[in-house]
Amino acid sequence: MYSANHRYYNHSGDIFIFGAGGHAKTIASAVKLRGEHRVAAFVVDQVSASMPTQLLGSPVLSLAELQRQRNMPRQFIVGIGDNELRSRKSVELESQGFELVNIAHPFASIGDATVIGRGVFLSSGCSLDPEVTLRDGVIINVHAGVGHETVIGAYTHVSAGALIGAISRVGERCFFGMGSILISEINVGDDSYLGAGSVANKDVPANTIAVGSPARFRSRFAVDTTQPSPTAESELKADHALTSST
Ligand SMILES: CC(C)(COP(=O)(O)OP(=O)(O)OC[C@H]1O[C@@H](n2cnc3c(N)ncnc32)[C@H](O)[C@@H]1OP(=O)(O)O)[C@@H](O)C(=O)NCCC(=O)NCCS
Repeated sequence: MYSANHRYYNHSGDIFIFGAGGHAKTIASAVKLRGEHRVAAFVVDQVSASMPTQLLGSPVLSLAELQRQRNMPRQFIVGIGDNELRSRKSVELESQGFELVNIAHPFASIGDATVIGRGVFLSSGCSLDPEVTLRDGVIINVHAGVGHETVIGAYTHVSAGALIGAISRVGERCFFGMGSILISEINVGDDSYLGAGSVANKDVPANTIAVGSPARFRSRFAVDTTQPSPTAESELKADHALTSST
C-alpha cells in the first residue's frame, strides 16, 4: 500500500489547516506521519470561547491571529468535509496569496501517471489506479478507491470505503457516502450525492440524490409534497412577522 511517489508533495516546512473539526484532525495526523510538514496552526474564521485552544499539539487561531505571527506559514489545506465550504475557503485564501498544498497519508497508494490538482487530501489506505485525474480540493477518504482513467471533479468528496469504477467522469462538488459504489464507465453530474452503501449502475444527472441498490434518483431540489402547502392566511402572518421584526 505504501507509495513512494513524492511528485505531488514537494512542499516542506510549516503549513496551516483551515478548520478545527474531525476532518482537519485527520489531515493533521496524516501530516505528522508523513513528516514533511509541521502543522503550525488550525485556523478558523473566529475563535469562540467554547473552542479548544489547541488540537493535537497545534494552536487553534483565527486568521487575523495567524496573520500577526512573524513566521506566518504561506501554505495551507482546507480541512472541511463540506464541499461548498471547502471550495469557498480555498478560493478565498488563495486570493489572499496563500498556497494550497496536497496532503497524502503515507499509506495512500497512488498509481502511475496520476494527475492531481491543488488542495487534495488522500487518506489512509485509499487507492488510485493509474491515469486517474483528481481536480482541486478533492477528498479521497479512508480505504476509498478510484479506478483507472477516472476523472473526479473539483471539491468532490469520496467517503470512507467508497469505490469509484474505472473510466468514469465525476462532476464538481459531488459526494459519495461511505461504502457506496459507482460501477465503471459512469458519468455523474455536478453537485450530486450517492448515499452510503448505494450502488449507481447508470449515469447520474447533476443535482441528484441517488440511494439504494441499484440507486434510485431524486432531485436535490424536489419539493416535499408530504407537507401541507401554506395557506394564504399563514403566508400573510409570516409576511407580517417578517416586516414587524425589521
Ligand atoms: C444520501 C443522503 C445524503 C440522503 O440524505 P437525505 O436527503 O437527508 O435523505 P433522507 O434521510 O431524508 O431519506 C430520504 C429517503 O431515502 C432513503 N435513504 C437515505 N439514505 C439512504 C441510503 N444511503 N441508502 C438507501 N436509502 C437511503 C431513506 O430511507 C428515505 O426513504 P423513504 O423516503 O422511503 O423513507 C444520506 O442518507 C446519506 O447516505 N449520507 C451519507 C452519509 C455518509 O456516508 N457520511 C460520510 C461521512 S465522512
